[in-house]
Amino acid sequence: MRIVTVLGARPQFIKAAPVSLALSAAGHEEHIVHTGQHYDPEMSDVFFDELPIPAPHHELGVGSASHAEQTARMLRGIEAVLLAAPPPDWVLVYGDTNSTLAGALAAAKLGLPAAHVEAGLRSYNRRMPEEINRIVADHCADLLLCPTRNAAQNLAREGLAESARLVGDTMLDVQRSQLARARARDDVLPRLGLEPGGYALATVHRAYTVDDPERLRRVMAALDALSLPVVLPLHPRTKARLASFGIPAPSKALRIVEPLGYVDMLCLELHAGRIVTDSGGIQKEACWLGVPCVTLRPETEWVETVQEGWNRLVDVDADRIREAVEAQDWPSGTPPELFGTGDAGPRIVAALESAAGPGPARDRARRSEGSG
Ligand code: UD1
Ligand code: UDP
Repeated sequence: MRIVTVLGARPQFIKAAPVSLALSAAGHEEHIVHTGQHYDPEMSDVFFDELPIPAPHHELGVGSASHAEQTARMLRGIEAVLLAAPPPDWVLVYGDTNSTLAGALAAAKLGLPAAHVEAGLRSYNRRMPEEINRIVADHCADLLLCPTRNAAQNLAREGLAESARLVGDTMLDVQRSQLARARARDDVLPRLGLEPGGYALATVHRAYTVDDPERLRRVMAALDALSLPVVLPLHPRTKARLASFGIPAPSKALRIVEPLGYVDMLCLELHAGRIVTDSGGIQKEACWLGVPCVTLRPETEWVETVQEGWNRLVDVDADRIREAVEAQDWPSGTPPELFGTGDAGPRIVAALESAAGPGPARDRARRSEGSG
């Protein structure tokens, strides 16, 4: 098969790594299009350097802009790439960013088969740009590769069951493959003056949290007031908003550092007493490691993490953040395997192989159901 993979943002580089590995192991040809949505070295290059992701064949360099402007630049660039070569067997997109939306839409408009990895997630909060991107990508794509049973059920409710395949979560593949490296990083905690189990790891970057000055002010004040050291690798969106809203630098618990590479981040997650975040990926990573996660959102698409007790939704309420961080009644033991078994990469390749062929995958599925 010939695959064109569209990537652009930090979590997508991470999610794609196990699929790239499995595609190359099976002898398939993959061409990566990097939209350039994320471009700082610590938001992009670092992941290509430390994870097994092939170097991009095409760099669109779209950079930062408004949603419409950024997505339009991507659409133009992706379409040009797709038209310049023989039609691929699949256009592969990941997650819920503007790069996901642009890849799925460009493929659909050219009548090319598209597959969406991490399909079926829903927060049911349409004020999040990610929710719009997911819904459009799922409804454009022909093959919907779901990380969880709940995601597949969401798609069934939207009439998309026949395109859905339950494959597990590729972020679990990555975490398992990098755990030994993260455990061996014995310089990360001393460098930051942290003790194992004695700190909270925080991240905050969602537009829904940080683009509202009042919400961002409340989060920063709540983190700074916690009773244990809090390390915050700062996303560039948040850095820009802190400066433009004139939010003062923290002076108590909070230590701000630059964004980290994947392995250093995993090392900090592994040894954290608590994780406090509005990230999608980090909620799952915390749960898989058995580290209690306090989520700075009113809802989550990763409902399993909450149902199993490893994640508490506290929004940006300072009292609820503190109570959840200080609570002692978190679960213990090993979280159940609700995200697959760490082999989502090969399962995705198998799903692509079995659904490949002439015509959109969704039509083929309908035809085979009709003939069966
Ligand atoms: C994007 C995704 C979000 C995802 C996040 C992962 C969309 C709509 N949002 O949000 O779903 O959770 O990536 O991290 O696609 N910037 C830099 N350097 C960079 C990249 C960004 O300075 O390398 C700054 C710019 O000021 C830019 C801002 O960050 O305007 C936001 O970047 P953008 O890619 O638009 O959205 P993210 O917040 O990164
Ligand atoms: N991550 C990282 N360095 C950081 C912050 C996050 O490597 O400084 C990783 C994190 O471990 C996870 C992914 O980036 O694998 C999550 O990305 P992000 O939170 O930016 O996006 P989201 O998951 O919310 O879309």
